[in-house]
Amino acid sequence: MKGVILAGGLGTRLRPLTSVTNKHLLPIYDRPMIYYPIEALVKAGIRDILLVTGGSSAGDFLRLLGNGEEFDLQQLNYAYQKGEGGIADALGLARHFADDSPIVVILGDNILERSIKPAVDAFRKQKSGGKILLKEVHDPERFGVAELDGDKVVNIVEKPKDPKSNLAVTGIYMYDAQVFDYIEGLEPSERGELEITDVNNMYIERDQLTWETVDGWWTDAGTFDSLLRASNLVKDGGANKD
Ligand code: DAU
Repeated sequence: MKGVILAGGLGTRLRPLTSVTNKHLLPIYDRPMIYYPIEALVKAGIRDILLVTGGSSAGDFLRLLGNGEEFDLQQLNYAYQKGEGGIADALGLARHFADDSPIVVILGDNILERSIKPAVDAFRKQKSGGKILLKEVHDPERFGVAELDGDKVVNIVEKPKDPKSNLAVTGIYMYDAQVFDYIEGLEPSERGELEITDVNNMYIERDQLTWETVDGWWTDAGTFDSLLRASNLVKDGGANKD
């Protein structure tokens, strides 16, 4: 299993904090944001990792992370996303790296209290298809939202005005190698991005998507409030715990 961290995008919602640096280099309590998704993958037993980033501060990731020595990695791989074409556009850059192997994808601004290892281990056994992780939230309209029929996810809507549930699709996705063909077939959404929600709906249409819920707290860190919340949660209890 290989891991992909998506840390591109312009972080416009956090300006002026992101006017001269990349969102994922901002602090979450005592470490740069990007440390948390790397640690999440490493603790799940994934040692072959690609970091996709972009913008004008991309070189700072190399200076900060080098070859991943701080995480006991022998090597860290990098890719550069031109522009801000969306999460699925950034993931498309991982095709060569993935080389037909299944992948675990984590958004660079997603922070978790508990290790994702149990879910990753379950996906290792799944062999094909995809898997998403859901979390109950009080503000589902900020996220991709899953609609359930019994114990099946039957549809995901990106930032719905009228959410069908309070189950947010977190930024942790597991896919087989088909994902890259699905991405190639995508059209940009109204906001001009290739949407990961469209990819997940393709897996749903083919009855190939499993899901489970996240243990412990989960948060993104892409707004002022969630950035502050993430720091406080990490300060109070740490992240990626076994
Ligand atoms: O955090 C979970 C949510 O993330 C999901 O519930 C949504 O379905 C999903 O679309 C996404 O929503 P956001 O609006 O929060 O995504 P955002 O544009 O903030 O991007 C999240 C991360 O994805 C960002 O930290 C870096 C990466 N990204 C994003 C874009 C737009 C890229 O690498 N390249 C990009 O072009």
